[in-house]
Amino acid sequence: MMRTVDYDSLANRYEAMNSPLYRYLAEETVRSVRRRVPAGIADILDLCCGTGILTFALAREYPNSAIVAVDASKNMLDAASSKATPADRIRFVRDDANTLAAAAGPYDLIACNYGLQWLSPSVVDTLRARLREGGYIAAALPSHGEPHRSDAGAATRAGNKLLDCVCRVAPAYEAELERGIVKPVIDLWRRFRTVKQWIERFEQHGIHVVEQRTLTRVFSYASPEELLHSAISRGVFGNCLDGLPDDFYRDVAEELAALYRKYGNLEEENVSTFLVLRYSGTTCGDESDV
Ligand SMILES: C[S@@+](CC[C@H](N)C(=O)[O-])C[C@H]1O[C@@H](n2cnc3c(N)ncnc32)[C@H](O)[C@@H]1O
Repeated sequence: MMRTVDYDSLANRYEAMNSPLYRYLAEETVRSVRRRVPAGIADILDLCCGTGILTFALAREYPNSAIVAVDASKNMLDAASSKATPADRIRFVRDDANTLAAAAGPYDLIACNYGLQWLSPSVVDTLRARLREGGYIAAALPSHGEPHRSDAGAATRAGNKLLDCVCRVAPAYEAELERGIVKPVIDLWRRFRTVKQWIERFEQHGIHVVEQRTLTRVFSYASPEELLHSAISRGVFGNCLDGLPDDFYRDVAEELAALYRKYGNLEEENVSTFLVLRYSGTTCGDESDV
């Protein structure tokens, strides 16, 4: 299975550490879907479903639809399926979202919250092949490359400076462990496509934007440790910070604590783009990689 990130080691902390953020993303995606997608649709796919936060929100919103929830991580799927009852009409499938061999569809709606950034551009071919004509895609994406307005407090938020803190602490550990820490993070983030690139790719496949919203929301954390481990467990750094000595996490938390003493907040700004797209059934342009 082709995976850029392995959430198995993150699954036991994922939801407990991030529920306000991921509940907010699910609520906003459902808000868009409710406005654009007819109530009577038959088949929904939640792509990269994780622990099922969006899956269960969709099940509540579309009580007559059958839902398939796909993830590559066994532990994330176990966490999701342990919350389900037969009445939820959800089928959990372990599959690579890039190819969807085991969850072929077709679907009227494919939803995906914070999953696309981990996938290959070729996933768009897969999604088109799995959508019914006139079907929808709804996605929440980190807003890479999107211009957005930050408010005046942005520069003071410890959470916005997390990579700076990692960069200050990492060199001593890189030397001792003979392992790169910062470069793998930068390499990982460089691979992410911008929202504009994803939209171009969808448009080339006859999948057109019907709604696009970019929202900024600030989240507060109770301690530097909570802020750090929340980011790690939601996969912000992929697996690049997995398995380091306890002292590394303590040192990064101390850097965050110093910012807290200076600026007085442990906040983090989340900028997300919420897209709804529709497959018209016709394709235009070339289909080369973006
Ligand atoms: C940030 S989590 C988002 C989970 C969920 N959608 C939510 O909103 O909480 C990203 C998820 O994508 C899954 N994932 C990453 N690459 C994948 C792939 N190639 N196929 C299927 N799932 C994948 C991970 O296992 C993880 O559960």
